[in-house]
Amino acid sequence: MKISQNTKKLLNNQIVLEANAASSYLAMASWCEITGYVGAAKFFYAQSDEERSHMLKFIHYLNNIGGNATIPATKSPPNSFKSLESTIRAALNNEQLVTKAIYAIVETAQKEKDHSTHTFLDWFVNEQVEEEKKFETILQKFDLIGRDKIAIHEIDKILGNLVTKD
Ligand SMILES: [Fe+2]
Ligand SMILES: [Fe+2]
Repeated sequence: MKISQNTKKLLNNQIVLEANAASSYLAMASWCEITGYVGAAKFFYAQSDEERSHMLKFIHYLNNIGGNATIPATKSPPNSFKSLESTIRAALNNEQLVTKAIYAIVETAQKEKDHSTHTFLDWFVNEQVEEEKKFETILQKFDLIGRDKIAIHEIDKILGNLVTKD
C-alpha cells in the first residue's frame, strides 16, 4: 500500500500526541494517588492505558501500510496540580488538541483520496466525541455538586465508578 510522506508524518506525529497523553494522564493518576483521590487515581490510570492503546493502533496501522512507525521520546508532563478540577480541565484541553490533530489527518486523507487512512480514522473521530463529552461532563460536576471537601469527595467517587475494569 502506498502512503504519502505527508500522511506518514502526520500519523507519526499522532503517535507522539497519544504517547504524551498517556504520560500526562499517568502523571495525573500519580498525583491523585498521592493526594488521596482514590477514585480519580483509578480513573486516570485507566485513561492512561486507553491512550497507550490508541498509540498502539497508530503504530500498527502505520507499520501495516508500510509507513514505519517511529517510537518517540515523550516530554515530561506536569507532575503537580492545583486541584482535582484543574486536572480535568487540562485533560479536556488535551483532548480538544487531539481532536484537531485527528481532523487534520482526516482532511489530508480526503485530499489525497487515501481511503484506507480515512476509514482507519473513523474510529478515532467517534472516540474523540466520547472523550471530549466525558471530560466536559466531569467538569460540569464541579458546578453541579460543588467544590467544598464533601463535593470533591463525591466527585472522586464518581470518577472511580467510571472505570469498569479493575
Ligand atoms: Fe487518544
Ligand atoms: Fe483521549
